[in-house]
Amino acid sequence: MLGGLFPAGSGAQEILSRGSDEYKPRVLDIGTGSGAWVIDVAIKYPNAEVVGLDLAPVTPSSSPPSNCRFETGDASAGLKQYGRFDVIHARSVLQGVKDYAALCTEIAEVLNPQGVFISVEGEIGLHDKNKVKYGPQKEGDPDFCWSQELTMAYLEATRKRNPSFSNLKNVAEILGTTAGDPWGAIDGTTFFLPCGPYESGNETERIAGQLMHQSALKVPKALQALLLGSGYDAGYVNRLTEMALDEIENCRVINFLKWNVIWAVKNKAD
Ligand SMILES: C[S@@+](CC[C@H](N)C(=O)[O-])C[C@H]1O[C@@H](n2cnc3c(N)ncnc32)[C@H](O)[C@@H]1O
Repeated sequence: MLGGLFPAGSGAQEILSRGSDEYKPRVLDIGTGSGAWVIDVAIKYPNAEVVGLDLAPVTPSSSPPSNCRFETGDASAGLKQYGRFDVIHARSVLQGVKDYAALCTEIAEVLNPQGVFISVEGEIGLHDKNKVKYGPQKEGDPDFCWSQELTMAYLEATRKRNPSFSNLKNVAEILGTTAGDPWGAIDGTTFFLPCGPYESGNETERIAGQLMHQSALKVPKALQALLLGSGYDAGYVNRLTEMALDEIENCRVINFLKWNVIWAVKNKAD
């Protein structure tokens, strides 16, 4: 959906394409998860040195090339021990990091001058078939959506466990306040990911929708324990999750997730 490993316009491709036997640009992926992105980058840019960092040890799904390695550690505990980088990437980690502003300061410190930080984060909450964010709704409304109702319940339950979740800022806002004003430019784009295999003239969108649908089918059951644990009535949780699952299984409602892609280029000098 991004049209490649890096957003066009971020300058990351240009940095990595300059790699040679003498110059090995360095890439860090924070919260690398399965490591699949890191492996793809290392294959595409054999002259780059790519590091995937995660709290949990990574078991890559395919064997990593020699210019790629994984580190286990907490990004919030500091990045300096991993060296300096030309490109730093973080996808879907905002919700897991307690102090993202402090992490951005650390990122700026380990980026080389004119290096780029790229953040890719899904917005919390669903968008409807017109790609408009859902407003308040109640059962019986013509466009009532169970998946949205489930999303709202998830949000409320998560906020109860972690009140700071309510104040989650977007990454562009956070970067705008990085200490020392290290960013020469902050820019970005957005895209909408279909939540199901809906009709689409766009092949990439159709495949993304199929993959999202597989994940979405697991969500209602996966949220049951969280909702029950945060005090929701068991009968309500059963009905909510059953109705949402039926809606997802049968693609009764067309929904999208909005993703924000932000990149920040570090100033020419430290
Ligand atoms: C939702 S997954 C995203 C994985 C991958 N970036 C992707 O887009 O497929 C979030 C990952 O970030 C990792 N993570 C969260 N907080 C972290 C931290 N403070 N330091 C390192 N990794 C972290 C989690 O362990 C998890 O693997």
